[in-house]
Amino acid sequence: MKLTPYILVLSMVALCSNVIAKEEVEKKSDEAKKAWNEMNKEQQTALHAKPDMANGLDVYEVCSACHMPEGWGMENGTFPLLAGQHRSVLIKQLADIRALNRDNPTMYPFALPQSIGDAQALADVTAYIATLPMNPNNGVGSGEHLEHGKKLYTENCVKCHGETGEGDAEKFYPRIQAQHYKYMLRQFEWIRDGKRRNANPDMVEQIKNFTDKDMSAVIDYVSRLKPPKKDLASDPNWQNPDFAD
Ligand code: HEC
Ligand code: HEC
Repeated sequence: MKLTPYILVLSMVALCSNVIAKEEVEKKSDEAKKAWNEMNKEQQTALHAKPDMANGLDVYEVCSACHMPEGWGMENGTFPLLAGQHRSVLIKQLADIRALNRDNPTMYPFALPQSIGDAQALADVTAYIATLPMNPNNGVGSGEHLEHGKKLYTENCVKCHGETGEGDAEKFYPRIQAQHYKYMLRQFEWIRDGKRRNANPDMVEQIKNFTDKDMSAVIDYVSRLKPPKKDLASDPNWQNPDFAD
């Protein structure tokens, strides 16, 4: 396991008190910057490592407790869909969560190197997630303002997230098609209001004047964008055979 002493200390402090650790990072001390550079290296290493699928499944067992064995998350938005997300995005989000650059107190202890392993573990678990078909029945919004949502999407989102919400693996733009409405609404609001520290500054700029009504309309529209059939499970009741006992 490759750990810089700083990350180890940061993690231990964080386990005792999330608050102290978060302040440490926010101050952007030289050490925090160094840790951040390490994280970038971790992402790079994970992206280029040859994945070990057996270990990926082993690691995913921890994740399945919340994200479900199918990687479909929950319609109520508590846990996001992971299946179908670009590997580069999954790796970036995991590295950001580890680095406390994105708040996730529920998941944080389970994502740490001492829980699941180093960059290789990120490579393994994200390669395993990439084998899972997507949820054909994700949670959607009320359907009330879809025309308005479509207009907002075309004018403000297509350039990054793509015509059908497919995202861009190279640029770390998340795939948002088939993601749960309630999860996306929460993320969108956090990004707009500056609560998600790893947000893309250009996206923040683009959406800063969105009202709550604009927000629910555009996210409702997004939640109905469909991935290609080949990426979806053919049966909405599909169960991950790796977890059958
Ligand atoms: C105790 C529950 C829990 C466990 C265990 C857990 N997660 Fe999560 N995960 C969450 C929650 C909650 C969120 C969403 C947090 C938020 O709202 O910002 C999340 C978010 C994520 C995201 C970001 C998704 C996105 O669309 O940006 C990724 C990637 C992720 N988890 C991967 C994993 C992996 C891989 C594991 C196993 C190593 C794991 N999680 C284990 C609860 C959990
Ligand atoms: C300049 C490019 C850009 C624009 C424009 C943009 N986004 Fe994003 N969006 C991103 C990036 C990059 C992220 C991930 C940030 C990160 O690295 O953690 C993101 C994250 C998100 C997320 C959270 C996804 C997740 O899985 O957690 C949602 C939802 C989202 N965007 C919706 C939208 C919508 C809807 C619009 C238009 C109103 C929009 N974005 C405009 C680049 C953009």
